[in-house]
Amino acid sequence: MKASLGIKLEGAASIDGLTLFAPIALDIRPNQWTCLLGPSGVGKSTVLRLIADLKTYVDFDGTITTSDGQPLTDRVAYMAQSDLLFPWLSVAENVSIGARLRGEKPDGKRVLDMVSRVGLSGHDTKKPAALSGGQRQRVALARTLMENRPVILLDEPFSALDAKTRAEMQELTFALLKERTVLLVTHDPAEAARLAHIGYIMQPQGLIPMEMPETPPVRPIDDPLTIACQTALFRVLRKGAA
Ligand SMILES: Nc1ncnc2c1ncn2[C@@H]1O[C@H](COP(=O)(O)OP(=O)(O)OP(=O)(O)O)[C@@H](O)[C@H]1O
Ligand SMILES: [Mg+2]
Repeated sequence: MKASLGIKLEGAASIDGLTLFAPIALDIRPNQWTCLLGPSGVGKSTVLRLIADLKTYVDFDGTITTSDGQPLTDRVAYMAQSDLLFPWLSVAENVSIGARLRGEKPDGKRVLDMVSRVGLSGHDTKKPAALSGGQRQRVALARTLMENRPVILLDEPFSALDAKTRAEMQELTFALLKERTVLLVTHDPAEAARLAHIGYIMQPQGLIPMEMPETPPVRPIDDPLTIACQTALFRVLRKGAA
């Protein structure tokens, strides 16, 4: 499915009358990967949850609009920062939960293929408690990748993975979601430098747009442009608010 859906989030958020983030204008362009970085607690996950129309702890004063003026409702897939797996279901059952909840018969072959693509072949009948943190995160990733939605919100989807697996999962996810409208939250400047068409650093004072390489993602880790971008992101993250 080719995405052609953009989203704009404009507004500010506060908690108990205290500003969490000042007015921002986050432009999530159709068919592009937008990366959001920023310090812990600044409100990145909140932004994702506001877009997904899920419960948050903030008072949001602003608007969220789509490029076609229609509500997002079932056109968005969301991978939360915590894996939110159902402990009583197997890996395969967790991966196919979307179809199950819609009352559809899961495509067993596609489920096993996705389990295999995230590197969990042979683990499909296990329960989440029998998996490592990084394995659980890949189950949650597989579940998100099963959903054929035009907009995908990914909250630190690779944070628990070792360097090799992380690079592989970045490549798999980008390949499967290449034509989609993706908002990726990450703490890893190298990840943003590899994957993003558009990058923002979020601070309590607002959003800082970051220049990303013009070369298409996924960019090689050791490409000079990727390394320069990673360094620039790190410097702004390190410096904090100007
Ligand atoms: N369960 C909660 N109860 C009350 N306040 C909360 C809760 N979860 C988050 N908050 C508040 O919302 C603010 C924004 O949290 P959010 O999870 O969006 O931050 P984040 O930028 O995603 O941080 P991180 O990088 O650590 O994931 C926090 O600073 C915190 O004050
Ligand atoms: Mg978060």
